[in-house]
Amino acid sequence: MANNKRTSMFDFSLFSMFFVSLCLATVSTSAHGRKLSFSVNGQFKILQVADMHYANGATTRCQNVLPSQLAHCSDLNTTAFMSRVIATEKPDLIVFTGDNIFGSDVKDAVKSLNAAFAPAIASKIPWVAVLGNHDQESTLTRQELMKHIVKLPNTLSKVNPPEAAHYIDGFGNNNLQIHGAAESSLHNKSVLNLYFLDSGDYFKVGNRKSYGLIKTSQQIWYNQTSKHLQREYNEEPNPQQGAAPGLAYFHIPFPEFWSFDSENATKGVRQEETGSAIINSGFFTTLVARGDVKSVFVGHDHLNDFCGELKGLNLCYGGGFGYHAYGKAGWERRARVVVADLNKKSTGSWGDVKSIRTWKRLDDQHLSVIDDQVLWKSSPN
Ligand SMILES: *[C@@H]1O[C@H](CO)[C@@H](O)[C@H](O)[C@H]1NC(C)=O
Ligand SMILES: *[C@@H]1O[C@H](CO)[C@@H](O)[C@H](O)[C@H]1NC(C)=O
Ligand SMILES: *[C@@H]1O[C@H](CO)[C@@H](O)[C@H](O)[C@H]1NC(C)=O
Ligand SMILES: *[C@@H]1O[C@H](CO)[C@@H](O)[C@H](O)[C@H]1NC(C)=O
Repeated sequence: MANNKRTSMFDFSLFSMFFVSLCLATVSTSAHGRKLSFSVNGQFKILQVADMHYANGATTRCQNVLPSQLAHCSDLNTTAFMSRVIATEKPDLIVFTGDNIFGSDVKDAVKSLNAAFAPAIASKIPWVAVLGNHDQESTLTRQELMKHIVKLPNTLSKVNPPEAAHYIDGFGNNNLQIHGAAESSLHNKSVLNLYFLDSGDYFKVGNRKSYGLIKTSQQIWYNQTSKHLQREYNEEPNPQQGAAPGLAYFHIPFPEFWSFDSENATKGVRQEETGSAIINSGFFTTLVARGDVKSVFVGHDHLNDFCGELKGLNLCYGGGFGYHAYGKAGWERRARVVVADLNKKSTGSWGDVKSIRTWKRLDDQHLSVIDDQVLWKSSPN
């Protein structure tokens, strides 16, 4: 896909070895200028990696694996799983939904971040990370973590969106626009909008400690961004009806995730409580009121991997990915995949988004696919 800049930089480096390091520096930031698009097969695929809890690599032991697995299990198994699932799924984007590193066991946050994201970086696939509640528990603050992440190769993360940097809470809030397929009439329009939000770490309500939440300033930014994107979607040339569908990614679930158990979730299981904030900041209500976002994807509660639908919005857990994260022995570490498919027009060219599907990949011998489901379908026009 949009690799023109990298190719031309490579040609340029042939002119003078002196410029090679300069070129590499340009490559590592060039991802920001990349335009993400649906591929020529009319699909866009996202891999969600939740809760790697990476620490120091080979010396960091796994948690909650079978006794027989304990001796040969470390952070490197998290790395191996990621390499395998990337090679198998070949996603267009990789999203890390926080607790990327497990701060309290980390010696050097920079080294741990670099190691944690290494398979994504090596794949050259664009990636985005938001923070969880554990990332900042070692040598870097939340702001410093995001400042480091945005310098890594092929990331599309931002410290914050420039237009909102002066008022938005948290670090790593961001929006990505996925354009229509190349050679289609929607190639210059965003047909799928992704929102990444910082759900914070902890705060106090009186003397009670609570997990973080999406604050009002972030909801205002989401509302404005969503409205702005809808205006662009509706305007000439090729004006479209309504709003393009959206997906939101963040770490800490909001209290509405409590609405589901293993019986009435659409797919997947609940095996532990929802670690949401003890107050409700209203983000679920804001999303339902705006209506463009069809599904939210969180991490945080490693033993829950369900999707459930409430008021037309899908609430999905990723399921724990990392081996140094708490888990359940014998219950495989897992990753969530989301695919959006485009409508094919009568002319044979690709149109707007037709459906959004999801499934999970287990870290077993065959990377088993489970819980395939449709999250959203466009209404026929
Ligand atoms: C971790 O990786 C080692 C080395 O490849 C492998 O032998 C072991 O089975 C893996 N453990 C788990 C729990 O996947
Ligand atoms: C998209 O924008 C480019 C640059 O402005 C233009 O050359 C191209 O014709 C546009 N494509 C469509 C399908 O509107
Ligand atoms: C799911 O079941 C639980 C327990 O019976 C109930 O409290 C909850 O309201 C149900 N949720 C939905 C979305 O029906
Ligand atoms: C966002 O917009 C919706 C309606 O579009 C509104 O109900 C909600 O209060 C707004 N939220 C904020 C925080 O401005």
